[in-house]
Amino acid sequence: MSSPTPTPDPLTLALQQIRGLIEAGQLQPAAQALNAAQKQAPLDARVPLVGMRLAQRAGNLAGATQAARRALALAPGWHVAQIELGLLLAQQKQGEEAVQLAMQALAGAPKDSQVMVGAINVAHLSGQSDQAVAWAEDGVRRFPEVAGIRLFLARLLVALDRPKDAQAHYEVVHSRVPGHEETLRGLLSCAVRTGDNDKAAHWADELLALKPNDALVQYWHALTHGQMPTTQPPEVVTSIFDDYATNFDLHLVRGLKYQTPKLIADALLARFPDRKFNLLDLGCGTGLVGVYLGRIDGHIIGVDLSEKMIEQAARHGIYSRFHRVNVLDALRETPADHYEAISCADVLVYVGDLAPVIPNALRVLKPGGHFIFSCETAGEDEADLVLRPSQRYAHKASSVERQLREAGFDDIVIEHLPMLRMENNQPLPGFLAVARKPLTA
Ligand SMILES: C[S@@+](CC[C@H](N)C(=O)[O-])C[C@H]1O[C@@H](n2cnc3c(N)ncnc32)[C@H](O)[C@@H]1O
Repeated sequence: MSSPTPTPDPLTLALQQIRGLIEAGQLQPAAQALNAAQKQAPLDARVPLVGMRLAQRAGNLAGATQAARRALALAPGWHVAQIELGLLLAQQKQGEEAVQLAMQALAGAPKDSQVMVGAINVAHLSGQSDQAVAWAEDGVRRFPEVAGIRLFLARLLVALDRPKDAQAHYEVVHSRVPGHEETLRGLLSCAVRTGDNDKAAHWADELLALKPNDALVQYWHALTHGQMPTTQPPEVVTSIFDDYATNFDLHLVRGLKYQTPKLIADALLARFPDRKFNLLDLGCGTGLVGVYLGRIDGHIIGVDLSEKMIEQAARHGIYSRFHRVNVLDALRETPADHYEAISCADVLVYVGDLAPVIPNALRVLKPGGHFIFSCETAGEDEADLVLRPSQRYAHKASSVERQLREAGFDDIVIEHLPMLRMENNQPLPGFLAVARKPLTA
């Protein structure tokens, strides 16, 4: 076995060049150079570790894991290989071995802050949040000057819904590195979560000065200054649903008694009993509308901003294809008279303003086609569109009905639902709107 060495010998230089090729995506020449390095130094653990990077870059997780294991076999106890293998195993749900490796790496290299960051990441990716926080807290004590560890801890604490604790760490980083974007975003998010609007407005001001054209910052700036943005930026949607995707069905349908996709599927089948129709499912999420519909004699096209939600929907094999785009863009980019039906279950609560939605839905539908969607209810004594503290929009039913009528829909039915699903142990009221495009213009 030969251990890694810091002197820039020819092999080190060659490996550096190979890394450069991998980073530049030049995988073929990288593989050739790596073969040559392997022949030159078959027992040097650094060679398979670079091989691991190459396999990773090529999307070959199994090959990367094998290469990391080989590196560790050649250099047992090498903390770099322990962390790299740990990270790979954590991604493959082999958390126990991953965390063991991270522990060994920490014990072997207690003064290396990079190993500390790697170990925290291993625990985090393994889903062992308590271990990740414990290591991050230890890291903050041992490496108080390393902002990266403190920021990692703050991020973990936010994810664990401990915004006050997270805020304290963000404040330390802010006092040392003012104007750091991630820190300011963290401080804003903590202030929002703790309901401290003055602080939130202050951090939003600082962020807007730093990132004046950022749609997300503009959204939070408007909100914290008492204005109501008329839609949610795509970044807000994807950040919620990419994280939520794997638990969505279980949590919402079983836990919160979410029925809307079934109601929409029933409403569709009542209008198309022969199952002959093409459906555009806007904000398809994990594909529950398709699941409740089952096979139809036509295509179901799913549109969603969240890649992770689409991945879940694709597993059912019911949708013909997916588009990862904004609902509004999907509608604008679809030719006229294209679908017999459009569904939109629990999505307009994120889209907000229906003015750009309704006329385009009418245009995209074939004559006689149906647009079926759900909304959360805003009271008739409230504004037409209300942004709730939940960060979702509620719509006034009479205003939705008017917008549908004015756009040219007929046969409009608004069905009031005392419970769309549960929220905070209370039924969340809403309504289902069904509207038909007239048969003749
Ligand atoms: C609460 S889920 C509902 C999913 C599915 N319709 C159902 O009922 O199970 C909301 C979905 O709408 C998507 N979404 C929200 N706003 C969107 C937008 N502007 N464009 C595309 N998708 C959006 C989210 O990513 C998420 O998958």
